[in-house]
Amino acid sequence: MTAAVPALTVTGLTRVFDVSAPWLNRLIERQPQRFLRAVDDISFPVPRGSCLSLVGESGCGKSTVAKLVSGLIAPSAGSIAFGPGPAGKPLSAQMIFQDPYASLNPRWRVGDIIAEPLREMSLRKGEADVRARVAELLATVGLSASDGRKFPHEFSGGQRQRISIARALASEPEFLICDEPTSALDVSVQAQILNLMRRLQDEMGLTYLFISHDMSVVRHMSDEIAVMYLGRIVEQAPTEVLFAGPKHPYTRLLLDTIPNVQSPRRRRQTQTGEVPSPLNPPTGCTFHPRCPEADARCRAERPEVLAQPDGSRVACHRVAEAMAALAVPAPARGPLKGAGAVRLPA
Ligand SMILES: Nc1ncnc2c1ncn2[C@@H]1O[C@H](COP(=O)(O)OP(=O)(O)OP(=O)(O)O)[C@@H](O)[C@H]1O
Ligand code: SF4
Ligand SMILES: [Mg+2]
Repeated sequence: MTAAVPALTVTGLTRVFDVSAPWLNRLIERQPQRFLRAVDDISFPVPRGSCLSLVGESGCGKSTVAKLVSGLIAPSAGSIAFGPGPAGKPLSAQMIFQDPYASLNPRWRVGDIIAEPLREMSLRKGEADVRARVAELLATVGLSASDGRKFPHEFSGGQRQRISIARALASEPEFLICDEPTSALDVSVQAQILNLMRRLQDEMGLTYLFISHDMSVVRHMSDEIAVMYLGRIVEQAPTEVLFAGPKHPYTRLLLDTIPNVQSPRRRRQTQTGEVPSPLNPPTGCTFHPRCPEADARCRAERPEVLAQPDGSRVACHRVAEAMAALAVPAPARGPLKGAGAVRLPA
């Protein structure tokens, strides 16, 4: 059986921003050019019809990945390849943003906001067909046809995010890039929007690249989770594998920030610390200043991403050493199935 073609394959993706002072200031103050590596050599596939979530603290590069994948900014290196869409047409992607108010034109009626892609892409002929499709899209996201006559400011935050989703769906995309789509909403409204997105995914066979800093949210949404730290993916695993046995010390730290189910008022004990500046990242493993397991090797040598037998991929020397210790050296015993870490191609 041949493996399904992924909806998206990202390979060696890197984005460096030039954050130098204006050249005249640099000249006068003799400052060098400064570069910020926001996304640093990341690779992942997103299988068709699945949800891959990127998670990590503020500034780790999540939105930069979203902008790169949606084509809003260009990569410094690496490639982004969408699989073929239905009937061999190029697969189409749409982005849903964190702040639905900023992404909806306040002077337009909601019906016209949703109708714009239909008209621009000539997806419906004639005004009656456009209106009928707008009413259908409003119903799909749980709003009524009469809501199309109102303006965005007449809606709550959750309703505005429903409008953004209806607009995104108007162009009939197969792939949605969702950058913190619910983090501006109250918790109860968040759950409604996440459930709506799950239902739409099931009904329409959509593929999601989903971004959040909230582990509880990504657990609800994702088939697979990629944990980012300072521009790199440090651990990637199927959701249940990650929650059952997080391997990277940073993943464990993130999971410790989820409220304890037994005593929800008390957050679990965490060793936190600040995220270092990406302008001056630590040497070796960039997590070493915050890591309880760091040693001299961690300060000197950057860990490679290694595939694990349970389907996860982890960049940590301790995890690699534990895997190496498990490997049986004697070749007479034959090849060891599923116990050794596999070096991934660069
Ligand atoms: N256009 C830009 N020019 C310069 N630096 C940028 C630019 N966009 C992002 N950065 C920097 O790149 C790093 C990653 O930013 P990004 O917005 O991708 O992080 P994030 O994970 O989405 O954070 P948050 O959770 O706060 O949204 C940050 O240090 C940020 O300051
Ligand atoms: S490589 Fe070292 S510093 Fe980095 S996460 Fe692993 S143990 Fe911690
Ligand atoms: Mg962001």
